[in-house]
Amino acid sequence: MTTITNVLTPTGMRQEIHINDNVDMHLDGNKLLVLPGLIDPHVHFRVPGMEHKEDWVHGSKAAFRGGYSTVFDMPNTKPATTTHERLLDKMNLIDSQIAMSHLPLKYRLFFGADKNNFNEIEKVRDKIIGIKVFMGASTGELLMDDISSLHAVYAIAAKFNLIIALHAEDELIIKENTHKYANETDFRYHSIIRSVDAAVRAVSTVIALVKTYGVKSYILHLSTREEIDLVEKAKAEGLPIFAETCPHYLFLNENIYDNLHGFVKMNPPLRSQEQQDYLWQAVNNGVIDTIGSDHAPHTINEKEQPLCKCPSGVPGIETTLPLMLTAWREGRVKLSRLLELLHSNPQKLFSLPANDDLVLVDIKNYRELTDEQMASKCKWSPFSGMN
Ligand code: DOR
Ligand code: ZN
Repeated sequence: MTTITNVLTPTGMRQEIHINDNVDMHLDGNKLLVLPGLIDPHVHFRVPGMEHKEDWVHGSKAAFRGGYSTVFDMPNTKPATTTHERLLDKMNLIDSQIAMSHLPLKYRLFFGADKNNFNEIEKVRDKIIGIKVFMGASTGELLMDDISSLHAVYAIAAKFNLIIALHAEDELIIKENTHKYANETDFRYHSIIRSVDAAVRAVSTVIALVKTYGVKSYILHLSTREEIDLVEKAKAEGLPIFAETCPHYLFLNENIYDNLHGFVKMNPPLRSQEQQDYLWQAVNNGVIDTIGSDHAPHTINEKEQPLCKCPSGVPGIETTLPLMLTAWREGRVKLSRLLELLHSNPQKLFSLPANDDLVLVDIKNYRELTDEQMASKCKWSPFSGMN
């Protein structure tokens, strides 16, 4: 048992902390803030099939360094997690990699819906955290871009009381714009191709589906004022809709393309400074429920490719808490709100059991993020250079 005295708590009190293990390093409570183990509801740890980008040995280390003890992993792997058998195979692989990491990471898996696997959902329903639907294509093959499949998956989720998590971007708009801007090479066009309209149209479709089926729906990575306004109205009507945003939309905007090019290409894309400011309001006023890292690593070589070849996604699990604590230090968010976004809201929304996991943060260690510090296998961060 290790005891640390005088540790700062989220309520501003100083408290004695007891840790079950013997910690063989000197911990000065006067420098420390204690938080509950955070929950990241949105990671892509790339197993199986894309282990050159990330795996659970590196991913669990990155998670713990970032203050997370629970993660929900996405199904857009190779092959995609779309059958009972593949789900079990994936869990076996993850368990063995976590064992290798010697870190007690807790995880849950989203199950991918495609247009042909509706009968698999019943088989996996007790093993999954929810169903993931890609309304617009992103990394991997998963796509559900027709309304009849969306109705079918909502009907099944209603029957088995499952949560649906949605990548809400309209595939038709994206396809039209991809064609229209096919010759463009500037990464700024990524934000024009995957337009605000594409996000808004998909979110409107989700809201209509929730009205019909009453299924608890978790809209991933909101990035625009227009989506937030729709979600706010839907919530006011009592619909079970929940909203996530991600650190990249809060700490970056499209002005950064000129510096970081493909290293800030993600889906949905970065938006304007005004959209970024509006997101911060939604983070603080409660329209946004959670911040998921959308940790989606690709290698440096992959990200150095031109616009049309560069894959979408950025790592984020080990930088989300540090960035949010910097925002707290700057008075942009309250610590109590930060904990709702990164811990208690995902816990409530997905009905996770409570645990005793603690995170100790050295709040005196204020420094610049660098690529070299990253534990993630891809070894880079779009936030390097920030505090
Ligand atoms: O930018 C993204 N990257 N958005 C997604 O929807 C998927 C993710 C990935 O898996 O690379
Ligand atoms: Zn994602």
